[in-house]
Amino acid sequence: MKTATFRIWRGDAKGGEFRDYTTEVSEGMVVLDAIHRIQATQANDLACRWNCKAGKCGSCSAEINGLPRLMCMTRLNDLPLDKPVTVEPMKAFPPVKDLVTDVSWNFRVKKKIQPFKPRKPDAADGTWRMMQTDIDRVQEFRKCIECFLCQDVCHVLRDHHKHDEFIGPRYLVFVAALEMHPLDTQNRLSELNQVHGLGYCNITKCCTTVCPESITITDNAIIPLKERVIDDFYDPLGKLLKRFRPKD
Ligand code: SF4
Ligand code: SF4
Ligand code: FES
Repeated sequence: MKTATFRIWRGDAKGGEFRDYTTEVSEGMVVLDAIHRIQATQANDLACRWNCKAGKCGSCSAEINGLPRLMCMTRLNDLPLDKPVTVEPMKAFPPVKDLVTDVSWNFRVKKKIQPFKPRKPDAADGTWRMMQTDIDRVQEFRKCIECFLCQDVCHVLRDHHKHDEFIGPRYLVFVAALEMHPLDTQNRLSELNQVHGLGYCNITKCCTTVCPESITITDNAIIPLKERVIDDFYDPLGKLLKRFRPKD
């Protein structure tokens, strides 16, 4: 049977180091399988977070050969196995143990965003009428599995540590889903600029590149939000007119 070596970061909040583990690998295995095999046979105390093994729970995020990826969706076939495969925790969040990071900051950020506030129902039976095109536009954003790989790769968080001033691409997608929702009546534009740090994003598109759900984060969420914020601030006449017509 073939073998491969995995260079895994072991440690906690106080510090750590890479350790090499060589294990058997077979056709069809993903990185998470190899981690589980190492855990079962050589390092019972190796910590990793996972749940679905199907790319849908967003728990198994890590950095594989330096790239933010889901361990359960990264096939060994697609990696060069003639040299060690590095597996380390996401760098934008504090380490807890080994491959597990503390991602609770993300959930605190989510609580700061003004929630969905629908307009009054359109019909007496309490239902609404919406255009299919308006629904299609926000549907993409609802595919997010909260893996936080986009947050991890974004230099504003990863390198500049602006966690107190910038909500990150995942939550810009979340705000876009609310702002573009045809029923929503809330206005989050001034917050986006003044509290959520939209201006920090310089459209590098790294977040879009790593998203396992292929959400077009920059083109479909962030750029339209930036356009709306600019319209709101620099087009006072347009702003006034918007007060008298439903949000588009
Ligand atoms: S496009 Fe913006 S949000 Fe996405 S990674 Fe670059 S700076 Fe961060
Ligand atoms: S937008 Fe994509 S990369 Fe970011 S948290 Fe959601 S699924 Fe993950
Ligand atoms: S284990 Fe659920 S996304 Fe990987």
